Amino acid sequence: MNVPLMNLHAPLEGVAESWRASLEQLFARAHFVLGQELSLFESEFAAELDARFAVGVGSGTAAIELCLREAGITTREQEVITSPLTAPFTGIAILAAGASIKFCDVDPDTLLLDPVHAEMRMTSRTAAIVPVHLYGQPCDLDRLSALRLPLIQDACQAHGAAYKGRPFTDYSPHVAYSFYPTKNLGCLGDGGAIVTSDATIANRLSMLRDGGRADAHVSILPGINSRLDEIQCCFLRAFLPHLREWNQRRSRIAALYDQAFHGFEPVRPVLRREPSVHHLYVVRAPNRDRLREHLAEHGVGTGIHYPVPLHLHPTFEKCGAMFGDLPHAERACREIVSLPIWPQMEEAQALYVIDQVKSFY
Ligand SMILES: Cc1ncc(COP(=O)(O)O)c(C=O)c1O
Repeated sequence: MNVPLMNLHAPLEGVAESWRASLEQLFARAHFVLGQELSLFESEFAAELDARFAVGVGSGTAAIELCLREAGITTREQEVITSPLTAPFTGIAILAAGASIKFCDVDPDTLLLDPVHAEMRMTSRTAAIVPVHLYGQPCDLDRLSALRLPLIQDACQAHGAAYKGRPFTDYSPHVAYSFYPTKNLGCLGDGGAIVTSDATIANRLSMLRDGGRADAHVSILPGINSRLDEIQCCFLRAFLPHLREWNQRRSRIAALYDQAFHGFEPVRPVLRREPSVHHLYVVRAPNRDRLREHLAEHGVGTGIHYPVPLHLHPTFEKCGAMFGDLPHAERACREIVSLPIWPQMEEAQALYVIDQVKSFY
């Protein structure tokens, strides 16, 4: 049996009629940037997340950068706290905005940014926190909000997730999403959005993504060029009505894994803060690299999210954290492995993965 880590064909084929029809209409209109597909998608995505506004941008990285710019966090003197256990793009976005990064360690069980460590490392220069809702699970927004700093939420892996039954936008007015193809809601290239319930912020972000322009001719804010194009919106609008169902299907696969690994000593699923939308299913496993080889030999795809914590990337070496400074993240990077999970995955495929993991040990 062949079980890839994720499968991008299945959603595309499942809704082909819908995106084909809207692409044809788009080609007839020939209005490819900042047109009606974007406006419609922005309203639909905001409504899906119980928020008032969404602003489509060119990527998740740009979404985080634009949030920081909107919040005025653009100078080296301003430090932004974030997790070292994330895609490098979280850090890249902070540097692109012009700010400095201060990495804080993760909680050893959930692998989410630890609010206690964040509080310990705060200084008078700390200007914001970028919590990462890693693997689809929400960070502790109550404790992070209590630190009374702007929260720029990296929800690039958490489409459809909420915290204690309330939308992320209830906790801060800057929530950044990526539509990279592998995400729970992905497009067919790069794309992203910022979701907010604040009308002034939404309006400023709409300008900032478009060269800071107030109209076609005059730029009034130091923006960037990062717009979500109409073609991607045709795909996103076709996929969006399925997001909830796809997330539920992911949960069913996660539940099968949970059940199988409960009490199976060598493999420890990362403790999840529920409700998660199960972007990735990550376990800690001894002999992780040999396990991955064994699974690959038996047709099972795996991944590591992430093998190197951000403070140990050459790009971030000036951020002041060295090997040994963030032990929980460093240890996790040596032990974690992501098992296959995608909405259309069959139960039999999950059971096969489980068998292969167990037979390795
Ligand atoms: C947690 C996290 N933050 C930021 C990003 C950046 O998103 P994008 O690739 O759309 O720029 C990603 C995706 O790669 C991500 O997983």
